[in-house]
Amino acid sequence: SKGGRGRSRLTFTAVPPGTDDRVTVPEGYDSAVVVRWGDPVLPDAPAFDFDNQTAEAQAKQFGYNCDFVAFFPMGADRALLWVNHEYTDESLMFRGYVDGDSADEEQIRIAMAAHGGSVVELERVGRSGRWKLVTRGRRRYNRRITVHTRMRLTGPAAGSDLLKTADDPTGTRVYGMLNNCAGGTTPWGTVLTAEENWNQYFVGGDGVPEKQKEALARYGVDTSTSVPDGNRRFDRIEERFDLSRHPNEINRFGWIVEIDPFDPDSTPIKRTALGRFAHEAATTTLAKDGRLVAYMGDDSRYEYIYKFVSKDRYIPGHDRHNRRLLDEGTLYVARFSGNSPKKEIDGSGKLPSDGEFDGTGEWIPLVSGDRSFVPGMSAAEVLVYTRLAADKVGATKMDRPEDVERNPVNGRVYVALTNNSNRTPAEADEANPRANNRHGHILEIAERRGDAAATRFDWSLPLVCGDPKDPNTYFAGFDKSKVSPISCPDNIAFDPEGNLWISTDGNALSANDGLFAMPVSGRDRGHLRQFLSAPVGAEVCGPLITEDGRSVFVAIQHPGESDGATPDNPASHWPDGGKAQPRPAVVVAWHKHGKKIGS
Ligand code: FEO
Ligand code: CA
Ligand code: CA
Ligand code: CA
Repeated sequence: SKGGRGRSRLTFTAVPPGTDDRVTVPEGYDSAVVVRWGDPVLPDAPAFDFDNQTAEAQAKQFGYNCDFVAFFPMGADRALLWVNHEYTDESLMFRGYVDGDSADEEQIRIAMAAHGGSVVELERVGRSGRWKLVTRGRRRYNRRITVHTRMRLTGPAAGSDLLKTADDPTGTRVYGMLNNCAGGTTPWGTVLTAEENWNQYFVGGDGVPEKQKEALARYGVDTSTSVPDGNRRFDRIEERFDLSRHPNEINRFGWIVEIDPFDPDSTPIKRTALGRFAHEAATTTLAKDGRLVAYMGDDSRYEYIYKFVSKDRYIPGHDRHNRRLLDEGTLYVARFSGNSPKKEIDGSGKLPSDGEFDGTGEWIPLVSGDRSFVPGMSAAEVLVYTRLAADKVGATKMDRPEDVERNPVNGRVYVALTNNSNRTPAEADEANPRANNRHGHILEIAERRGDAAATRFDWSLPLVCGDPKDPNTYFAGFDKSKVSPISCPDNIAFDPEGNLWISTDGNALSANDGLFAMPVSGRDRGHLRQFLSAPVGAEVCGPLITEDGRSVFVAIQHPGESDGATPDNPASHWPDGGKAQPRPAVVVAWHKHGKKIGS
């Protein structure tokens, strides 16, 4: 049995797969935009003006392409919302934009200011599950983080030669963060935000010392050319983005960044103990003995799943102690073994004869404080070149590990593996059982003894995504005539009852992306239903269900993103409608009668 025997509380009527340019929610629910690209964040921000945008205005306004969302209640009716701004779509932001080579310098500066993150204060609307921006008064917490925000590097790799540059001979100070995708929060009320595809912001890869090229290539940096296609050319504004002049600047990106939303003057901290890769998320939980554990994905094809276990224990209320926990501990990478014969895993996705894709696994230690477990690599090298270290210890190459979350009810850990169209039949394994995996799957990890610090675990795949009519999909054995199609799981969350919520990015089933809910325990395990359908061209990020269960926040990222779309010919006019340009935005949905989300 996989937990309780009862029926789930989820009773909403699924929305059908959508193609409309709007947000659709189930009958009985409503939704509203909370904050859009360009909305004022700082009290002195000017109103958004698409045709007269400036970098100075953008640095005070909500950034582009909202992704991770965190919600910090301040009483019942006030809250802080943290939002990542992952990247910019210049061809939708600027009329006539061709590329970074020909862009106006002001356009490049606007893009730099549109990256990063935002803290905004929210208030509840009446007694409903709807929330809106606080637009009057002091707004003392509101803050913008950009490519220019001063940050610190801490942990075992801080100060190492690999992190030193001409501008920072200490290897401990860096400006800005790049491509922050998903994230997490800590028990002491801070945000962890994950630098993902930071490799795309640098030029001059052909001009770095030969010995650095292998590592750069392993991280997806083009070392064959000086200016890769599509580069935003931040180097035209600041030469630190030119690797041929500053080869170590790139090593200062690719970290988990901790930010205190309650202290607008605090310096964000890049925590080197958590390793450096295409960080997607950092979900924290406590081990049985109180040590802090952070689960993390490396979102690229054939990359790995990691976890960090702190050396010391979390002590409730001891803030100064707790805020050092992420600087010392052990970084592990996951290896998965299947329990079915290899010949039954043929890459088709057909279930093996024992009826499940499942098996056991182990967490392989890479580095602990200053001690490396990887032959030939120092601790600092393991932390800065974590992918190379994981390659050496036989970790399992996964189908793009995106978000990771721990279920608050059953304690299991869930990973969204979004897709991997490159995997061949010969490369199929029980944890990644489909070749040309276009639709992705969900992985469930049960740590031994339910202890997040365990080094061994059991695992299974409760969901193998796609059209339920496709025989090589799996919805935990639930009746497939009753489930919604789903493709490309990206971000995941749990409601207070432990139901899994999944948002998608890149739906390959000819419909828009959306938000889905699926019980993972009891008789309804696998009964997946679509809750929300997004506008044209958008992926759905977040999601976040508030602790009272009455509101769900999603970030609608890159509406209108499609080949050839421009401000004069957008594929989407959401959310403003009419002839308006699309604007990425955070949306809240709630039940009109105040019931819990999913009712
Ligand atoms: Fe930015 Fe892995 O999605
Ligand atoms: Ca099996
Ligand atoms: Ca993502
Ligand atoms: Ca994604």
